Amino acid sequence: MLGRGWAVMGMVVAGAFAGISGQEQGRVTAADAQSWWRHAVIYEVYPRSFADSNNDGVGDLNGIASKLDYLEALGVNAIWITPCYPSPQKDFGYDVSDYTNIDPMYGTLADFEQLVVKARQHHIRVLMDFVLNHTSDQNPWFLDSRSSRSAAHRDWYIWRDGKGPGQPPNNWQSDFGGSTWTWDPKTSQYYYHYFEAAQPDLNWRNPAVERAMFDAARFWYDRGVAGFRLDAVDTLFEDPDLHDNPFVNGEMVNKYNDNLAQNHEVLRRLRTLSDRYNAVLLGETWTDNISQLKQYYGDHDDEIQLPMNFMFATINELSAPKFRHQIDSIESSGEWPVFVITNHDMERSYNRYGDGVHNDQIAKLMAALYLTLRGTAVMYYGEEIGMRNNDPTRLEDVLDPLGRMDWPKNKGRDGERTPMQWSDAPNAGFTEGKPWLPIPATFKTYNVASELQQPDSILNFYKSLLRLRRDNPALAEGDYVDVAPDDAHVLCFLRRYQHRSVLVALNLSSQPQHLDADLARYGLGTARVTTLLSTMHNDPGDLRQARLDPFAALIVQVDQ
Ligand code: NOJ
Repeated sequence: MLGRGWAVMGMVVAGAFAGISGQEQGRVTAADAQSWWRHAVIYEVYPRSFADSNNDGVGDLNGIASKLDYLEALGVNAIWITPCYPSPQKDFGYDVSDYTNIDPMYGTLADFEQLVVKARQHHIRVLMDFVLNHTSDQNPWFLDSRSSRSAAHRDWYIWRDGKGPGQPPNNWQSDFGGSTWTWDPKTSQYYYHYFEAAQPDLNWRNPAVERAMFDAARFWYDRGVAGFRLDAVDTLFEDPDLHDNPFVNGEMVNKYNDNLAQNHEVLRRLRTLSDRYNAVLLGETWTDNISQLKQYYGDHDDEIQLPMNFMFATINELSAPKFRHQIDSIESSGEWPVFVITNHDMERSYNRYGDGVHNDQIAKLMAALYLTLRGTAVMYYGEEIGMRNNDPTRLEDVLDPLGRMDWPKNKGRDGERTPMQWSDAPNAGFTEGKPWLPIPATFKTYNVASELQQPDSILNFYKSLLRLRRDNPALAEGDYVDVAPDDAHVLCFLRRYQHRSVLVALNLSSQPQHLDADLARYGLGTARVTTLLSTMHNDPGDLRQARLDPFAALIVQVDQ
């Protein structure tokens, strides 16, 4: 692994914290108690792949519980567990057959309750994933719904006649390919599904659906869940007249089944319920621009506290101007930013940003980017050890329905969902059984146990970064000031809180760059500089002449 400067810098970090008064630390803690999520790092756990306690090859809740020491030492504040409810697993849990239980593959409800309690002992909150838009076709609600046109749950889903024999009600296309409408011979009507046919959409215009789903939310809140990640929040409603969607430049635009205004009414009511529990909502909010994203916070901050910014996450190149633009947009919107760089639906950041030569430096650089910005950060398991995609090479190995649909153009999402690499033991220490997805050979080097031993590993960089983010008031509370707004290669910004300033300089290029920050403009012309964390070997010295190594990340404290 690369980036030898780390060990020295690790000591600098500890020294810098010693200068923070107890009073300042107290202030951060008090703010946390009000809305702990504002400074949080939320760690996404894909339960199938995190840790397998019973060696059946699939991760489980007791596995997660066994890794709480690790997560606490890593420094995350919450875990978001992707769906672990009973499910036929057609879309790996995003097809829920019972909203108030745990899939036996993952354990029991008692295991879950214990996990929540144990996690709190480790200062970690637990968020669940709430699949609002659709259920499994095996959910008893849907089984009843499809049983007859007069069934009690018939109107819990969206049933329509076709336009004519063999013709679906309209031209809407599913995200998982083909029409959004599936013919059901039993009652001779079509049912609607934005995703797979095995994931029929709930009819949110029926108040009974909302009651049932909100009851499910209460069920988990009463068990100590600290919030929900909301799945597919933009597709709850459809145009009741089923207008055909238009095409723009040959592509269908989901004008009539995506982003309808009624979505927001449900979110406001869910927020009211969640506020009673002081819970947080984290949104899967895919948007094209900042004004769309802004709507999810609510006109009166009364919808989702944390709508994830996927415009930031989907910048697939190391472009300082592009990242800067997204940061500026959310900063100037006046909303609380939520930064994320990858998840279980996206290729891992190691692959997307790596150049094949400096991947480890780039992994640290990206960490330093999304974890030093103002806002909440959401990190995906394994990012901290530099896990990479392990994509299937043959169609017959593909498990993800998306991968089977469009092979080989789209290899699906299996590659980013492989088991966590805990050690260099067989199966990366994840299981003694056969792992449900193959583990890449690189686990021998990129694993928790080995990286803990190496001072300059990606894991140790993450740990130091998370510690710094937690303990440094300027990084926790400070405002964001871009001090090099025209630089094509370097992102350089100040985080300022009261008399404290932290400067972050990130070289997103493969060439050395000179730092071009006019600190005098911010009253910091004669500032004393202390390195807090750096991937470089050398002390940057005078910031006015500092030279940044290729892909370097430098975080310094600047004191007047
Ligand atoms: C978004 C989830 O993240 C994804 O994994 C899933 O396939 C779809 N929603 C459908 O639930």
